Amino acid sequence: MHGHDRIDVSFAGLGAADDVARYPFGRLLGMLTPNEQAYLYAWAARAYDGRGAVVDLGCWLGTSTIPLAEGLAANPRANGAVVDAYDQFVWESWMASATIPSLGDRYRDGDSFLPEYRERTAPYAGRIRVHAGDLNGEHWRGGPIALLFNDVSKSWSLAATVLREFWPAAGAGALIVEQDFVHAYCYWLHLIAWAMRDRLEPVGVVPQAASFVFRRKEDAASGITSVGPGDFSAADVDAAYDYALSIVPPDGASTLLAAKARCLFERGDRAGVDATWSEVLRLGAPGYYAYNIAMVEREIFTSR
Ligand SMILES: C[S@@+](CC[C@H](N)C(=O)[O-])C[C@H]1O[C@@H](n2cnc3c(N)ncnc32)[C@H](O)[C@@H]1O
Repeated sequence: MHGHDRIDVSFAGLGAADDVARYPFGRLLGMLTPNEQAYLYAWAARAYDGRGAVVDLGCWLGTSTIPLAEGLAANPRANGAVVDAYDQFVWESWMASATIPSLGDRYRDGDSFLPEYRERTAPYAGRIRVHAGDLNGEHWRGGPIALLFNDVSKSWSLAATVLREFWPAAGAGALIVEQDFVHAYCYWLHLIAWAMRDRLEPVGVVPQAASFVFRRKEDAASGITSVGPGDFSAADVDAAYDYALSIVPPDGASTLLAAKARCLFERGDRAGVDATWSEVLRLGAPGYYAYNIAMVEREIFTSR
């Protein structure tokens, strides 16, 4: 029996399906799907009990911040809580193509989009504390965290910062949402989750989205707090992907294996890449996940 037979795959336990209508496609410009927006709203509006910080890492133009703030505003138990929103707010060219609907050529590399974030989130300004700057220089001093929504760990160094600075405050019962877990790019997320597996309860995936929800089992100080590419052996990589495959529903399997191939590619294991990619091809690239498998395929096979 796989882990995913036991875990909740219907909106990761929140019953957020009723909230999807609040976030029709295109209402909030951004990189999150309507299901992810609905998940964040449902958690903030109904699951949050007013204790602990609500942390939004990589808030971009507010697609995660706004549902969280709207949920807090609707939650009678929220107790004045705010969203701690982090981003460096510096435009990078890839963002234009990741945006739906398109922002066109409004920004160039290096431009600040902080004014637009403030404008888009203005109706909820009282519910948001903005932390603008490079996260790698941040230290979390805000006390226990109830929800850690992580959409910033797009590199080893950012993932290491999040693990060192934020995970220790996300103690027993806290939710950690790894936004790009069912995605082929950020393979370090799978290695970190495996390294922390004894301290994490896999709750489930947000359907038609890359977000996977974990709940912290025990208290803060336990577990690793520093991480880097040299910390994992080849056997660890195999074990990490066995773990990830056991907790993610079957339609995410080829995406996870594409992430494994990317990991092996960066480790210089060409034979491992080929063996893993033939498994990706055997499984195929189901609907929602196809785009990121294609992205990794281009990266691996055009540079060899
Ligand atoms: C995938 S996007 C987040 C998308 C967003 N959560 C949404 O809902 O649409 C990743 C974000 O991380 C931010 N980021 C990248 N490197 C960063 C750094 N070193 N410090 C702070 N933020 C960073 C980017 O500016 C970007 O907004």
